[in-house]
Order: sequence, then structure tokens, then C-alpha cells
Amino acid sequence: MSDLLTPPAPAGTDADTLQWSDAFLLGFTPMDDIHHEFVQLVGQLQTAPEAELPALLEAFIMHAQKHFDEEKTWMVETEFPARECHIDEHTAVMNSVLEVRELLAQGNSTICRELADELARWFPGHADYLDSALSHWMCKQRLGGKPVVLRRNVASA
Ligand SMILES: [Fe+2]
Ligand SMILES: [Fe+2]
Repeated sequence: MSDLLTPPAPAGTDADTLQWSDAFLLGFTPMDDIHHEFVQLVGQLQTAPEAELPALLEAFIMHAQKHFDEEKTWMVETEFPARECHIDEHTAVMNSVLEVRELLAQGNSTICRELADELARWFPGHADYLDSALSHWMCKQRLGGKPVVLRRNVASA
């Protein structure tokens, strides 16, 4: 199992259900909208009846792919500095989620709940440190009156 799921949470220390709070707002609306969806899906994975977990996990995977691809596109298109560690963190999460999909298909719903709890613990820190820096950057790019200009070795006259 990859890092995201280790060490396992001791019994009785389940994470609180992830719920939206405006404290999660970072100011770049397209990202805030995606984060709203993330929080909703993880909260459902933590609390939904067991029978609903396979469908919910599929919905979460679709979401996570879109979420992480979107942030990567923003970083690459605007040449955001230090994007590698952010992209690596997304990749680690995605790998864990895909491992859990296999285990859930074999009937292991406990691991799916553990993943959901782990995601609930992971998100606030990730949003605070990595996503917030990207949000500020994107606001500056898009709202600061500064158009996004992609220059490739074009010498100014
Ligand atoms: Fe994000
Ligand atoms: Fe992110």
C-alpha cells in the first residue's frame, strides 16, 4: 500500500466526516468549485451505506482525474514555479485510490472507508499549502489585469 494509507489509523480514531466550510475557499472560483465537489464526494464515501461504495468510488475517481488534470493544466499553461511536488502529490493520491478500487472490487470495503478517512485528513493540508499558492497565482494571472501570455523564445523588439 502506498504512503497515503500508511500507517493505518488505530481503531476508534476515524477521521471526522469531511464537510464543506467556507474556510476552504481559496479565491480562484474554478478551483473552489472543484474543491466543493471533492469535499462532498469524500464525505459521502465516509458515510454512505456499504452497498453504495463501488459507485461512489467510481464517481470519486472521475472527479479526482478531472480535479488533478485541471490543476496540472493551470500549472503547466502558466508556468507555475515548483509545480512538480504538487503534481507528485496528486499522483500519489491517485495511485492509492486506484489500488483501493481493486481491493474494493474483491469485497474489501474497510479499506475504502480507510481511504475516505485518509482523504479527509489529507485535503485540508494540501489545500492550505499547495492549492492555495496555485489559487493566488491564478488570481494574479487572470484577475490582476495581467493577461496570460505564453512566450516561447520570442525575443522582444
Ligand atoms: Fe485541489
Ligand atoms: Fe492540488
